[in-house]
Amino acid sequence: MKAEILKMLRETEGYVSGQELCNKFGVSRTAVWKVINQLKETGYEIEAAQNKGYHLVSVPDVMDTVELESIRATEWAGCEIYYYDSIDSTNTKAKELAEEGHPAGTFVVADRQIAGKGRRGRAWESPHGTGIFMTLLLKPDINPNNASMLTLVAAMATAGAIRRVTGADAQIKWPNDIVIDGKKICGILTEMSAQFDYINHIVIGIGINVHNEFFPEEIAETASSLLLTCGKRFHRADLIEAFLEEFEKYYAVYLETEDMEGLYKEYNQMLVNMGRQVKVLDPKEPFEGKAMGITRKGELIVDTWESRKLVSSGEVSVRGIYGYV
Ligand code: BTN
Repeated sequence: MKAEILKMLRETEGYVSGQELCNKFGVSRTAVWKVINQLKETGYEIEAAQNKGYHLVSVPDVMDTVELESIRATEWAGCEIYYYDSIDSTNTKAKELAEEGHPAGTFVVADRQIAGKGRRGRAWESPHGTGIFMTLLLKPDINPNNASMLTLVAAMATAGAIRRVTGADAQIKWPNDIVIDGKKICGILTEMSAQFDYINHIVIGIGINVHNEFFPEEIAETASSLLLTCGKRFHRADLIEAFLEEFEKYYAVYLETEDMEGLYKEYNQMLVNMGRQVKVLDPKEPFEGKAMGITRKGELIVDTWESRKLVSSGEVSVRGIYGYV
């Protein structure tokens, strides 16, 4: 009921009368008043006027279940929302929920992770009050060999959400880092549980640097946050909702062909590496060339002086010739 009252307050320009809320939810005035007080305690500024009712003045930067449910406009993404002030890793939690039988679309988000995981076994710094640490659970009925492209789909959705909410020119560094002005704002870690021909579940974990004012020395050169690049603070719940909406949109296109057929052109428009010299850090044989976009299967096309090469995301990472991009 709390999320629904909040939704009503949000959607009403003027005042929502106490009686209207009582009638709608079939509860007493005291019950409504209690909910309003709980919302105020969380940081919502709500004006109460005699004979008029309640009016929402401002919302705090929270991304808990009540807040996210009150703005949710998606069909299936975020059908179940689990918020934690602190957790080990949202990916780990989402995997547990998957094992327990929670449906596709289940969404886990935390304000802090104490064991946040990055790609290649690295840690993902996840201090309190700085970012969005979120994971979406999927259970697609697709060939497991096509699943790695979901990471590219998630990158498009995240870049799209950041563009929509902040207006910044968020781009994708292949395969799935999001960069603004050449600095990394977001990382994505996709994990899958599968048999050779069947996917049990996939968790797509995304970390977005939102309010960070500084970074540890090791990554200070290459990392940034929305606050540092855009010079202002954004409401984290709006970014999450935009991501869920964008993901639903792109995922539907992906599922039509189980690959990037319907998406690669738009992906290439978001690709920061497009037309640039890159260094492919292949452990067997590193090489340099010009990035020419991705194929329908999500591989990066790299033209070297002698041939055209197709690079798969699992094997290697890519750097710019002069730096990170
Ligand atoms: C990378 O190394 O670029 C990927 C970072 C992915 C971090 C996110 S934060 C939410 C989710 N939970 C985790 O433990 N990791 C991912």
